[in-house]
Amino acid sequence: MDKYYITTPIYYPSANFHIGHCYTTIVADAIARYKRSKGYDVYFQTGTDEHGLKIETKAKEAGVSPKEYVDEVVENAKDLWKALDISYDYFIRTTGENHVKAVQKIFTKLYEQGDIYKGTYKGLYCVPCESFWTKTQLVDGKCPDCGREVKEVEEEAYFLKLSKYQDRLVKYLDEHPDFIEPESRKNEMINNFIKPGLEDLCVSRTSFKWGIPVPFDDKHVVYVWLDALTNYITSLGYMSDDDSKLKKYWPADLHLVGKEIIRFHTIVWPIILMALDLPLPKKVYGHGWLVINGSKISKSLGNYRDPREYIEYFGVDAVRYFVLREVPFGSDGNFSVEALIDRTNADLANTLGNLVQRTISMANKYFDGVVTNKEVYEDIDASLIEKINNLDEEISKDIDGLEISNALNKIFEVLRASNKYIDETTPWVLAKDESSKDRLETVLYNLLESIRVCAINLSFAIPFTSKEILRQINNEKQENHYLKDNKYEVGIPKVLFQRIDKEKFLKEHDL
Ligand code: MSP
Repeated sequence: MDKYYITTPIYYPSANFHIGHCYTTIVADAIARYKRSKGYDVYFQTGTDEHGLKIETKAKEAGVSPKEYVDEVVENAKDLWKALDISYDYFIRTTGENHVKAVQKIFTKLYEQGDIYKGTYKGLYCVPCESFWTKTQLVDGKCPDCGREVKEVEEEAYFLKLSKYQDRLVKYLDEHPDFIEPESRKNEMINNFIKPGLEDLCVSRTSFKWGIPVPFDDKHVVYVWLDALTNYITSLGYMSDDDSKLKKYWPADLHLVGKEIIRFHTIVWPIILMALDLPLPKKVYGHGWLVINGSKISKSLGNYRDPREYIEYFGVDAVRYFVLREVPFGSDGNFSVEALIDRTNADLANTLGNLVQRTISMANKYFDGVVTNKEVYEDIDASLIEKINNLDEEISKDIDGLEISNALNKIFEVLRASNKYIDETTPWVLAKDESSKDRLETVLYNLLESIRVCAINLSFAIPFTSKEILRQINNEKQENHYLKDNKYEVGIPKVLFQRIDKEKFLKEHDL
């Protein structure tokens, strides 16, 4: 059985997660589910990146220890992933004992083989915020957080020799044109970061305590990226007594990351792996952001909502469907409640919900729910059946190219064609004429087959709804194409998605 290892970034538990974090995780979940449905042995990993000054500061403000602070956020995150039907196989926490031990061993190994060395970190430091900044991060030459003066300071630190691996990295990227996607981000990495020359990366700090101690120099803690990136292998048992998962699943097939951290995943991470003599992941995909009115989602901008509020009002699959369908993967996309309502109404309530409701109702009304194929075909049937039969292959191409929005659109084209098929075959007219009874049953049979195949194909994106549809049409056949000899005994239709009155909703809710 082929394996498929897919990861999300590990998120900072500095605050509870917002819809932007959900975005990456839902996409990763959809791909993981799809691959499982195609028979892959999938390992889908997400988790949290729990060290660093920001968390240390937040915990101090909250009057708890950093560990207590992150424990609470992690519990909240796991609850959110449950509410969103996220089917992760493993949740890694960088405070976990195995990870900590492995990072220490990695640090020591890299130091001993000369890839990490001790030097001096020069930076611009804001004393009240206890934060280092680069020149470009400053706002009007002052601290971007508090607006106060920063001063130049020097601190002893360990560095990772990125420069040593520059030529090898360039060669690797040349030889593996699919390693970084989309193409535009690859060019940005090569032209803006690699070609001008790589600077060695600071991988330790002495100015805060909340981190993994450097084992041979405990004034220092490991600075976040070396701690964070290695999560993808420590979770598989790298540097532990049991590395069977590493043997089975590494290299990763896909690291999904947001565009702001693609640099670390396509420059720093490959170099760490080269230094450790491990193979590189097959692909790193840098996606765009969900924005609200053009701005990134953040607490300070006041555009941050608990994603569970959306789930509560619209249902988990409306939220999942929206983020998967609305934003072409790779680009930024706008998130708004208005757009979420429009999408839910147009696609889920009108197209999908209506088709299922109408078809099941007619099956009940005309045939007491029992429908078989009477094979009284007419020309109009051929194109619908062809569409149903092409779906599997077309979607597979789209998903392999990470064009999830296109894949969903193709399923909805079949659903729209099925609604049109009802309007064109007019079952209510056929029902008036006893001699058309077998034709009527064939029409309903074709519709049920279309619904069944679409529901199967939708299960990676909206698993709950897919299951519910299959329950309502009461059919367990898994074949992902039109069957000629299926048999239906449908249940009672239940509304899948309530149409939402947008104006009324927006007036009544402060969302
Ligand atoms: N901890 C690092 C990642 C380490 S991975 C080895 C980090 N964490 S983060 O909490 O800031 O989360 C970053 C990831 O969250 C982004 O790469 C992206 O996947 C996701 N997103 C956060 N806000 C987002 C949006 N507004 N829109 C889309 N994705 C967003 O960086």
